[in-house]
Amino acid sequence: MKIGVNIDHIASLRQIRNGTEPEPVLAALVCESSGADSIVAHLREDRRHIKETDLYLLRQAVKTKLNLEMSIASDIVEIACQLQPDQATLVPEKRREVTTEGGMDVAADPKRIKEAVERLARNGIPVSLFIDPDKKQITAAGKIGVKMIELHTGRFAEAKNTNSRNKYLKELINATRFAKSKSFQVFAGHGLNYNNVSEIAGIKGIEELNIGYSIVCRAAIVGLDAAVRQMKALIN
Ligand code: PXP
Repeated sequence: MKIGVNIDHIASLRQIRNGTEPEPVLAALVCESSGADSIVAHLREDRRHIKETDLYLLRQAVKTKLNLEMSIASDIVEIACQLQPDQATLVPEKRREVTTEGGMDVAADPKRIKEAVERLARNGIPVSLFIDPDKKQITAAGKIGVKMIELHTGRFAEAKNTNSRNKYLKELINATRFAKSKSFQVFAGHGLNYNNVSEIAGIKGIEELNIGYSIVCRAAIVGLDAAVRQMKALIN
């Protein structure tokens, strides 16, 4: 099982002070040297964390796979074509959401999504679609010629009790099985953390998990010891 590390929230921390650290590119290099199989970054339309300049630095520095999460807005697609990430993952984007709330509704809006997929493909960029674990969406993704999907694990991750957690896990298992029967490459992500990842990692057919927030949160806690010691040594 591969892991893609999403570094958006390294950039979120930087933006709190509108400063220069923590530097997302440095974070990406640490992630790669710690075993990340890809680096994921989302260029949001409001640029609330990752900026274009980060992407160009990441493009030069990332040696594994640079996976650009993006909406299908025309100016963002244009940036992707210039940047040439190793993969683009298309996500729905609402300006006011805190994070990506649901999957792409490919079944409802195939035409616009297909145009973006084809424009990226013409520029040599393989495309994955972030969708809910739903046969209708998987079938619609197949119809527009996509070969890679990322299943949204948010409903599973946010389930309030064991019954719904099991229901959403089953949904992910069934969706993966269905997608594999249609020869898709299957990835998954959103809301995965140190308590829930093993069930998703156990699903046969999923190749890669994309995880961001929980890793950045964990890094802040496990890194505090060294950070305080270094500051204390300087003070003394
Ligand atoms: N995959 C996709 C498509 C996402 O939009 C996100 C959130 O940016 C993630 C994975 C990672 O989610 P989280 O930060 O909750 O681990």
